[in-house]
Amino acid sequence: MTSSDAPGPGALAGLRPRLPSPLCEVEDARFGSRGVRLLLKRDDLIHPELVGNKWRKLAPNLDEAAGRTVLTFGGAYSNHLRATAAAGRLLGLRTVGVVRGQELAGRPLNPSLARCAADGMRLHFVDRSAYRRKAEPETLAAVLRAADAEDAYVVPEGGSNAAAVRGCRALGGELAGHADVIAVACGTGGTLAGLAAGAGVRVLGVPVLRGGFLTQEIRALQTGAFGGPRGDWSLDDRFHFGGYARTTPELEEFAADFEDRHGVPVERVYVAKLLYALVALVEEGAFARGSTVAAVITGRPFPERNDWSGPGAGPAASSGPVRRTAPSDRLR
Ligand SMILES: Cc1ncc(COP(=O)(O)O)c(C=O)c1O
Repeated sequence: MTSSDAPGPGALAGLRPRLPSPLCEVEDARFGSRGVRLLLKRDDLIHPELVGNKWRKLAPNLDEAAGRTVLTFGGAYSNHLRATAAAGRLLGLRTVGVVRGQELAGRPLNPSLARCAADGMRLHFVDRSAYRRKAEPETLAAVLRAADAEDAYVVPEGGSNAAAVRGCRALGGELAGHADVIAVACGTGGTLAGLAAGAGVRVLGVPVLRGGFLTQEIRALQTGAFGGPRGDWSLDDRFHFGGYARTTPELEEFAADFEDRHGVPVERVYVAKLLYALVALVEEGAFARGSTVAAVITGRPFPERNDWSGPGAGPAASSGPVRRTAPSDRLR
């Protein structure tokens, strides 16, 4: 690409995102019987390919990349790698994906990596020990050299850097005044770090990884993005179901049931654990009668079905006031 046809600042805006994303009330007896309203913040509807928090995190980074090759990191099923690859195709940007697991290099690509490759992303596989050390300057320099991408604009794993965190602050702004508690699933914590800074109400994070290390990391992300801690947030570490991408028959049944009740696709790695946590919390009496809880739907399942038509899914969804969906509006 020449500098004249490189995407300029705000290039993603040309892709017509649905922003602010729809905010929809769902009627769920588990909440209603406790006098609690449940809202879904449909960030999964922002863009068909740059879904949810991916849009919010990538948009400011692609502006900063200013047309340079974008290199980023992820596991073999990374939502972030797929979104970066799609952005590259849509904007005519070169992308490189550094994938965890040298052993994958000689095997057929799984559907997620195949999608990345089809979108033009150059895949570079590294061994797990180098991958773990990728934030160390020497390891990063070696990876960039080996990937033949020394001039690339580097976006960290999960897309969470200061620009991304600032990008997620708008999510808080869109929800301000609509809910008493906002809940979001956490991987790196970047989405929560920005959301909490813009929300003005309590934000509850549900980590999908084991380990309890995230509080420090979110503080560090907020300090990098805003100069210090921001907002009123806390984490509930009880709902990781064994760790990243781990599941149980109970969680799977819960997610399928939520889809049936509300016609909303439930992404299994993050969003299912968030929604499960909220149902458990409302049943524990964690939310005051008369309060409103907003759950951020940060992603969509992959591979996708295309037959969803639950709340917010219509073409004219707006940003305006909360829209109410009666149970009779349900899909299926
Ligand atoms: C669907 C979905 N929800 C939530 C998250 C967690 O975001 P974060 O890493 O900013 O905590 C991710 C990871 O990026 C994700 O793919």
